[in-house]
Amino acid sequence: MMQSPSEKYRPFPPVRLNGRRWPTRTIEKAPVWMSTDLRDGNQALIEPMSIAAKLEFFEMLVATGFKEIEVGFPSASQTDFDFVRKLIADKRIPDDVTIEVLVQSRRELIERTFEAVEGASKVIVHLYNAIAPSFRRIVFNQSKEEVKALAVEGTRIIKECAAARPGTHWTYQYSPETFSITELSFAREVCDAVAQMWCPTPDHKMIVNLPATVEAAMPNVFADQVEWMDKNLGYRDSIVLSVHPHNDRGTAVAAAELAMLAGAERVEGCLFGNGERTGNVDLVTLAMNLYTQGIDPGLDFSDIDGVRRVVERCNQIPVHPRHPYAGDLVFTAFSGSHQDAIRKGFAQREPGTVWEVPYLPIDPADLGRSYDAVIRVNSQSGKGGATYLLERGLGFTPPRRVQIEFSHAVQAVADASGEEVSGEAVCALFRREYFDVAGPVSRVGAATLRVRERDVKIPPASVAASGESYAENVAEALGVAAQVSSFETASTASGETAVFVGCRVGDEPMRFGVAVNANAAQAVVDAIVSAVNRARWTSVQEAQSEAVAA
Ligand code: KIV
Ligand code: ZN
Repeated sequence: MMQSPSEKYRPFPPVRLNGRRWPTRTIEKAPVWMSTDLRDGNQALIEPMSIAAKLEFFEMLVATGFKEIEVGFPSASQTDFDFVRKLIADKRIPDDVTIEVLVQSRRELIERTFEAVEGASKVIVHLYNAIAPSFRRIVFNQSKEEVKALAVEGTRIIKECAAARPGTHWTYQYSPETFSITELSFAREVCDAVAQMWCPTPDHKMIVNLPATVEAAMPNVFADQVEWMDKNLGYRDSIVLSVHPHNDRGTAVAAAELAMLAGAERVEGCLFGNGERTGNVDLVTLAMNLYTQGIDPGLDFSDIDGVRRVVERCNQIPVHPRHPYAGDLVFTAFSGSHQDAIRKGFAQREPGTVWEVPYLPIDPADLGRSYDAVIRVNSQSGKGGATYLLERGLGFTPPRRVQIEFSHAVQAVADASGEEVSGEAVCALFRREYFDVAGPVSRVGAATLRVRERDVKIPPASVAASGESYAENVAEALGVAAQVSSFETASTASGETAVFVGCRVGDEPMRFGVAVNANAAQAVVDAIVSAVNRARWTSVQEAQSEAVAA
């Protein structure tokens, strides 16, 4: 039997935080973003990136607007070492971009790291060591004093190496790894000791980066931890407070957002949430969440599919079709009621106004997405979906009753195949249903119709007062007891006239006929032909099937 969770797991202890401020704040500006795709993200890949892949990814990150990019762990990987050398030797790092490199607290590793970044103009050297009780006890068998001393000693060596290379602008970053499961007072003690060694100033700050190395609590708990550090850290005015959430509980985005409310000024993460286990926090979602709140994220995802292609190619991991903002299906509605609301939202939208289209939290165009996939039709869709596709494909909006009639034809196709009906298929079906319908009536000349074997002259359009009465005149000329019961017109996107005629033939149920023509009178005649043929054709079909059944 499974062990009871209350025996196996402990609840996360609450943070003692007086005068908690983050719940009443709002985010007003974007944080400093740091992409660790090429380091933390890369460390989590089945096949780590080659130098060529890293270069492609780096260039995409630069084009997207990242100003801080962790390019690798050069003391741990020859590929990373060579990649960093290549970036520097080939002058691939723009002046406004700072590269970052990770290192552990050991002299030979630190020296190798400085060797890798030799000649770069701006570098963040990132030192980390794990400080949580379980790591002190289980992994390293170290006391608190030893853990702190390791961090301080690493800082001292880095300071020495940096001082020996004054040609580079050095920024120092310290991460108390496993911060989120560490006693807060000890985390502060270590960070303060490190800062005391580095001696940051308000003009030359260091970065203290607080990782949720493994996400272990609800986002509000992480926010409390960050606010506690924000209030209690020494050298606060000389520190950029950064967070590094992982997504083990699936709440990294929320944790990062609440952490920003709690005082975090910088966020580390990966595009589309790649990274160890369930990933680092997804920087695309964070940035676009800000964007949809009217805040410029400072990152450009206006070609999200292009960014996605690079990430998928380099990581060799596909982005989920329902991934926020970027998945193939995130702007797609299949359900009838959603489609109806979206179609109305688009129809009522005034350019230049605040975005308010139901079910679409962001304009797909802002991510470089077209509106083509917004509405897709399957057996769960209603008339709204098919109408949207017709509007886009044929350039006109049929009247409501035609929409309803046509939606039955679409539904029948979708039910029969059990599959999606594409926009092209919907338009082809409409053409087949209304424009190309064969039957007893055909057009043999501009002013002549043939009804079975008999030619019928149709009256000139000029004798009719209106399209509707002209339609009645044509129906009467046909002599097939056709009665026009509704008549509507619309202009198509290309300036032609679409005519929709509801027609009863004898005792047949009313059917619609539809035609489009640059010549409005011709469109009326063709719409009558379409309606009569649809009525007749259907009854002949029904009679035939009854005969077969008998
Ligand atoms: O998750 C983590 O703790 C890290 C550190 C190295 C910052 O990746
Ligand atoms: Zn990490």
